[in-house]
Amino acid sequence: MINSNIIRSPFFYIGDKFKLISQIKQSFPKKINRFIEPFCGGGSVFLNTDANEYLINDINSYMIQLHNMLIQSSHDEKFFWDNIKRLIEEYGLSATFLNKDIPTEYRQLYKKTYFAKYNKDSYTKLRADFNKDKSDMIRLYLLLIYGFNRMLRFNAKGDFNLPVGNVDFNSNVEKALHDYFNLVKNKNIHTYNMDFLDFLNLANPTTEDLVYLDPPYLITFSEYNKLWNNLDEIRMLKTLDKLDKIGVKFAISNVIWHKNRYNAIFNEWAKNYNIKKIKSNYISYHDNTEKDSYEVLVTNF
Ligand SMILES: C[S@@+](CC[C@H](N)C(=O)[O-])C[C@H]1O[C@@H](n2cnc3c(N)ncnc32)[C@H](O)[C@@H]1O
Repeated sequence: MINSNIIRSPFFYIGDKFKLISQIKQSFPKKINRFIEPFCGGGSVFLNTDANEYLINDINSYMIQLHNMLIQSSHDEKFFWDNIKRLIEEYGLSATFLNKDIPTEYRQLYKKTYFAKYNKDSYTKLRADFNKDKSDMIRLYLLLIYGFNRMLRFNAKGDFNLPVGNVDFNSNVEKALHDYFNLVKNKNIHTYNMDFLDFLNLANPTTEDLVYLDPPYLITFSEYNKLWNNLDEIRMLKTLDKLDKIGVKFAISNVIWHKNRYNAIFNEWAKNYNIKKIKSNYISYHDNTEKDSYEVLVTNF
């Protein structure tokens, strides 16, 4: 069950930890000086964790630029909302949070695809404009919100290439943004954009800190898993052994098996630490038991 104190990240990132965060947090230490997160993605975990300071990193530079834009916007929300509304107006996108709904005939004509059908041309124009210089993070944020599965996806040329989704800027997105702004404006957050190992070397964690890791999973499928292989997994696990030797606390999420795939590297390594089973996201529709996946949180404290 999702605790009502848990806030949803406004990235709606595929595979985010929103539904699992209550279970994960139970294992975190009561007091955390610096919360150090090498694979922050949409930020669901740092947003829902109390610490004196936050060091968040992701190798995806757009992800970090988007966080930076939203963190800055938390100090001038009016500027952010004015821009969002101006762009929605300029491109003629639907926006149910502004009561700018689509005409009823679209809903009748295109039963399950009405938002996509209505927004397609506006979205394609917005995407082409963003791709001309790629520095406007408000445009990119809108592309993400109206895009298929709300992903950050770029082609080999580096152009954003996600198609329009059957989604809209609705009141859930508005609420997630308000919650994000309220949370980050009072937090001491530092963002980084590099490989996790360089980041950990730079952060130089101490015994007062917590390192939380949610890396790409070797055996599940998503856009960012393309960046990850056995060698990355091994250098990450070796790094955690080193942190353990100097008394730094870590917690790492992972999936040990998924459908008929098994992550032997991780499972063998995890046996040296504490393994907590997490009730997984991948719940079978028919019997409500999680039989397709074995998701865990491994801690060294
Ligand atoms: C499972 S996702 C994290 C999701 C996050 N916990 C959330 O709730 O949104 C893994 C993230 O690792 C990032 N990543 C992949 N390879 C990386 C690397 N070598 N160093 C740092 N980050 C990396 C990806 O860009 C992706 O955002």
